Amino acid sequence: MTSIAVKPKHIAIIMDGNGRWAARRGLPRTAGHQAGQKALRRTIEAVHQQGIQHLTVFAFSNENWQRPQAEVNKLLELLKKGLQKHIPELHKNDVRVRFIGRREHFNHELTQLLSNAEQLTKQNQALNFNVALDYGGHWDICQAFETLKAQFPDLPVTPERLQQFLCLRDQPLPDLLIRTGGEQRLSNFLLWQLAYSELVFCETLWPDFDAADITQALQEFAQRERRFGMVNEQAPATTAQIASA
Ligand code: IPE
Ligand code: IPE
Ligand code: MG
Repeated sequence: MTSIAVKPKHIAIIMDGNGRWAARRGLPRTAGHQAGQKALRRTIEAVHQQGIQHLTVFAFSNENWQRPQAEVNKLLELLKKGLQKHIPELHKNDVRVRFIGRREHFNHELTQLLSNAEQLTKQNQALNFNVALDYGGHWDICQAFETLKAQFPDLPVTPERLQQFLCLRDQPLPDLLIRTGGEQRLSNFLLWQLAYSELVFCETLWPDFDAADITQALQEFAQRERRFGMVNEQAPATTAQIASA
């Protein structure tokens, strides 16, 4: 695999296109979700091999409950099986796994699997792997606001204070967002945390995503000029300069 000098610390991915991948093969949408799990396993490996420390993937949104009940059931079933199959292996590979999003709509068995995986892997250091499940950016901002007001009712709400209660607060902000499947929208993913992320939209449908797509996204990232609201003379001109600053 090609290694690129300038890398993001944190990659976020909207894993989209499973249904279309299946439809093109005359298969049910759920076959696409199954193939999508294999793509995720490959991607974790590729991201780790590129020396990236943080990976956050969007697996199920607050809005995805509105899909046909049979598809939702199958997604939850695949999630359960995927956790049972892959968590021991991820643990062996020193990956720390965490879940962001609401837990209250999942059944007891699934919530137990989620907290057991977090507990088992909490000392691991090779890669921070975060899975957004029943997650929405609107929900995240509201829950942070609620907690902030409960703990500090008399303090004004500022971005700095609110940020301390958002999901992923103890990790660097994602520098790179990749969305597969060709759509160019955020679909309520990490709305706050992506404020200054570089966005890369790729046509590859998620089940076909592989190490070459990661390499391509990293190459594109390395070419971007990040300004953070400043002008060229003030801001490091490229991510390369930010990395070496
Ligand atoms: C992403 O693929 C998986 C989830 C949202 C759970 P989709 O199921 O959205 O696939 P498309 O976009 O319909 O092809
Ligand atoms: C976003 O994909 C959610 C996940 C990838 C989990 P969707 O397929 O649900 O997004 P829309 O509906 O096309 O915006
Ligand atoms: Mg989709």
